[in-house]
Amino acid sequence: MPKLVAAQFIDTLLQRAELVDIIDKQVPLKKAGTNYKGLCPFHNEKTPSFTVYPQQQTYHCYGCGAHGNAITFLREHNNLDFNEAVEELASSCGLEVEYDESIEAQPSQPKSDDLYTVLQQVSQFYQQQLQHTPQALDYFQQRGLSAEIIDTYELGYAPQAWDSVLKQFGTDAQHIQQLIDVGLLLEKQESQRRYDRFRHRVLFPIHDQKGRVIAFGGRVLDDSKPKYLNSPETPLFQKNHELYGWHLVKKQKDLQRVVIVEGYMDVAILAQFEVKNAVATLGTATSIEHLNRLFRVVPEIIFCFDGDAAGYKAAKRALEIALPVLFDGRQIRFAFLPDGDDPDSFVRQYGKTQFEAYLDQAKLLSTFLFEEYLLNDIDPAQPHTPESIANLKRTAEKNIIPLLEQLPKNSEYYRLMFKRLEEISANLGFEGANFKKSSKLTKNKQTQSEIKRASKSIPSLAEKALRLLIQMPSLAEEVEQLDKFQYVQDEKASLLIRLVEFIHRNPHVNTAIILEHWQDTKELNYLTSLSLHTHLLSEQEILQEFTSAMEQLQYCSSVRQRKHSLLEKIKQGIATASELQALEQLYKDEAQLFKLR
Ligand code: CTP
Ligand code: MN
Repeated sequence: MPKLVAAQFIDTLLQRAELVDIIDKQVPLKKAGTNYKGLCPFHNEKTPSFTVYPQQQTYHCYGCGAHGNAITFLREHNNLDFNEAVEELASSCGLEVEYDESIEAQPSQPKSDDLYTVLQQVSQFYQQQLQHTPQALDYFQQRGLSAEIIDTYELGYAPQAWDSVLKQFGTDAQHIQQLIDVGLLLEKQESQRRYDRFRHRVLFPIHDQKGRVIAFGGRVLDDSKPKYLNSPETPLFQKNHELYGWHLVKKQKDLQRVVIVEGYMDVAILAQFEVKNAVATLGTATSIEHLNRLFRVVPEIIFCFDGDAAGYKAAKRALEIALPVLFDGRQIRFAFLPDGDDPDSFVRQYGKTQFEAYLDQAKLLSTFLFEEYLLNDIDPAQPHTPESIANLKRTAEKNIIPLLEQLPKNSEYYRLMFKRLEEISANLGFEGANFKKSSKLTKNKQTQSEIKRASKSIPSLAEKALRLLIQMPSLAEEVEQLDKFQYVQDEKASLLIRLVEFIHRNPHVNTAIILEHWQDTKELNYLTSLSLHTHLLSEQEILQEFTSAMEQLQYCSSVRQRKHSLLEKIKQGIATASELQALEQLYKDEAQLFKLR
């Protein structure tokens, strides 16, 4: 009986394998946009219709319909059976195949450590090194960090050598490969010589939400350059998703707001001063994923920037990114420190109370937006003339409206921001400026139920969400309470919910892995066809579309739930007259709403 490959291992393998490289060895591929194209190896053709999608790790031939992932490719192209294909793929990735031991006893093989374990062990090693290196300990001490904070943040030190991690952990080819994969070792192309990425730097391990080490940021101990060196992006570490310090902040009780600062050191020093709600982005701008992650836990985010021109520029950038996720109940403010200060220097000089007072006075996003994009252009010394007022009006139309249009369309916030724009414009003298002419704005005048009515049926909403989700599995993070979808139960909606659950359990899957898990089901063809819809939306737009489809589904579910409970009451003979009336109305609404197929 053939051995059974462990299901978990197939995921690891499909995460590790680089489909483009595997196929390109046998079928020459050419880059076409984000994808690759070549002559299909599965049928005879003169013009290339065989496409490889690196993001999804799948291929599809638009001529003959051949479709699959790295494993299917090797099976079908090289004529291998499943286990052979897995073995070949594993060896090309430097992995040892893991078989499911519970099915058939195997001679015991050394089990490969997973990448998290590797990172955890190296982090512990760096922490020990810190304790043995007075120079590094001095550095932290000089910056004012206590032993307790060093311990809490698991700070470490990478020795001044080319091979401390390599020697200690690179015991065999497999471990070396893992160290390369997590960004701890570098490999010289020509000589294949390997060496440590981090040398003679103090280290800030970066943790994921669950507190697992996934990367490092390393700082020099003097003024040499580059000041900071970070792990590269790896399968475990995506800068757009992670926030330094979040795994500790989220443990705080009664967390009301989170402060986003710029540096690792700022976070650690703030914690040293008992400010325990600060996180830092990782040398990148704040992303939608960052914001959504925080807003799922707290209603307010405060950005803390330097008070110089760069700080204002960064704030504007953050504002522009944040607008689409400012659903009602979420609030953003901006705090600008005195020029020359960063949170580290500020809190050391003035203390916790002053720092928090600064946060309390932070500018509301609405204030900041109208100031920065409109009001600052006004010269109070100049008299208002028809010309200057007309100019202002144009500025408002050009600068402000496109920003406000980024806000979630059905929100109260969207409506109020336009109202504010009208108030401001009335004060400035261009009263009657009809900003409502903006075509999208008229939509806002529709009532909520009109919008819902115009929206799509449950199956098509579910299909839309599925299509986005299968191409961008990380969207599942947006869905929290699955029981809110209990009452939308058609085939597509329930497939959607199962897919969300699956991704919740396996957060790092890509499209290829998902399709592999649905391999022998009747839904495979359907999911495959959805995965082939290449859409031209930006990440922001994808997120918006997905969230809006899910919100509408949730709404449908709540209407049905209400109907269900009223029907129960009627069955039991305890419904009141007004409840009967309500039910009738619900039926009417539903007829319009759901437009079932
Ligand atoms: N950063 C980086 N690479 C650099 C410089 C900065 O990745 N060469 C990122 C780091 O995440 C750093 C953040 O940007 O934490 C802020 O950088 P900066 O303001 O220059 O440093 P500080 O945090 O003030 O660092 P320190 O106080 O240690 O000088
Ligand atoms: Mn600093």
